[in-house]
Amino acid sequence: MFRATYSPKIEDLKNKPVVLLYSGGLDTSTMLVWLQENYKCEVISCTVSIGQKGKDFKQLEEKAYRLGVKKHYTIDAREEFVENYLFPAIKANALYEGAYPLHSALSRPLLAKYAIEIAEKENAVAIAHGCTGKGNDQVRINITAFTLNPKIKIIQPVVEWGFLRDQEIEYAHSHGIPIPEKSVYSIDENIFGRSIECGELEFPDKEPPADAFEWTTDPREAPNDPEYVELTFKRGIPIKLNGESMNGYELIQKLNEIAGKHGVGRIDHLEDRIVGLKSRELYENPAAVVLIKAHKDLEKGVCTSQEVDFKNMVDQRWAYMCYAGLWLNPLMDDLNAFINEVNKKVNGTVKLKLFKGNAEVVGRKSKWLLYDYKLATYEGISTFNEKASYGFIELWGLQTKMSYQIKKQNENED
Ligand code: ARG
Repeated sequence: MFRATYSPKIEDLKNKPVVLLYSGGLDTSTMLVWLQENYKCEVISCTVSIGQKGKDFKQLEEKAYRLGVKKHYTIDAREEFVENYLFPAIKANALYEGAYPLHSALSRPLLAKYAIEIAEKENAVAIAHGCTGKGNDQVRINITAFTLNPKIKIIQPVVEWGFLRDQEIEYAHSHGIPIPEKSVYSIDENIFGRSIECGELEFPDKEPPADAFEWTTDPREAPNDPEYVELTFKRGIPIKLNGESMNGYELIQKLNEIAGKHGVGRIDHLEDRIVGLKSRELYENPAAVVLIKAHKDLEKGVCTSQEVDFKNMVDQRWAYMCYAGLWLNPLMDDLNAFINEVNKKVNGTVKLKLFKGNAEVVGRKSKWLLYDYKLATYEGISTFNEKASYGFIELWGLQTKMSYQIKKQNENED
C-alpha cells in the first residue's frame, strides 16, 4: 500500500492530469516541464497565496502557461490560513522546541489540502511538489495528501529525477525555463514568518550574516526609543492592534512591520527534524513572537496554576504534532478541544514594549484576570488572611519535613 503511493509508473500517467504545487522558483518551474516530458502527463499548476512578500501571482501564472501547463490555479488562502491555522497556533502558544513559531509547518497541510481538492476536481491521478527528500515539508504534505485521498499518487521530482544542481540548471537552460538569479539562501515565507536556510547558515558556529535578514532591522540600528503596542484578544484570538479592530491578516501584517522595525523576531535555532537530522535554521517572526508572548501572558493571568501547568504540556504536544506533519491526526482535534475551552476566557488587552530586538510584556488588563489587588497588596487594606498561612505551611511541608527527618534518623542508626 505504501509503495503504491509513490513513484507512479510512466504508463499510468500518460495523457492524465497531474497537479503540481508551483511556487515559481527554479525547482518547481523545472519540474513543470520535466513532468510533462518524463511522464507525458498534463500538468495543472497551483499556487497558493498565504502572504509571500513580493510574489507576482499574475506573472507566475503566465510563466506556467508559457511552460505548457493545461490549467493554472491561483488560490487566495490568506484569510483561511490565518483563521484556520495561525489562530489555533496562537491559542496553543505554539513554539517547536520552545523556539520556532512553525510558520512553514503550518502552511503545508493547507497546500496539500488544495493540491488534493484540485486533483479531485480535475480527475488527476497524482499530485507533485517541490520538496526534497531530506526535510520536514515532504512529511507534512505527503501525510496530509494521502490521508485525504489515499488513491491519489504523489510524485517528488527532486527525489526522482536524480539531477545535481548543475544538471538541473542545464536542463532548465536547454528547455527555455527562466533561471532566477542564484540566491545564497533557500527561503520559505508566508504572513507568519520567513525561514532562511543554506549558504553560511549551514555552519552552526558562525553568526548569521547580515544579508540573511529581510523582515527585521539589526537591533543596533533599530530606533533608540521604545515603542509600545497593545494587543486585544477575544477568546484567545487577536482582534485589535492599538485599540483598532482589524482582521487577522491585516493585524499580523501591521505587527510584522512595527516589530520588525525594532529588530524583534530573529530566531537562530539548531532544530531536530523529523527525519532525524539536526539542522541550523534561521527565522524571522516579528509578529508571531509578539503575539505568542502576549497571548501566553494573558492566558496565564486568567487561568489557575493547574490549568497553566497542564496547558504547557498540551501546547508542547500541539507544536510537536504540527511540526511532525500529523495535522490531521485526531489527537489534534482532542488537543484543540481543550485549548479552545481554556481560551474561552482569554479576553483582554496586553501592552508590550518593543526595543532593540526585544518584546517585553509591560502590562495586561482583563475582566477575567485571577488577580485581586485587595488580596495581593502589601498595603494595610489587604484582605488576605496571613494567619491562615501558618496552618497551610504546616500541612504543605508535612511530608518534606517527615521524609528528611526519617532519613536522618535511619542514616544515623545504620
Ligand atoms: N525547518 C522549518 C520546518 O521544517 C522550515 C522549513 C522551511 N522550508 C523550506 N522549504 N525551506 O518547518
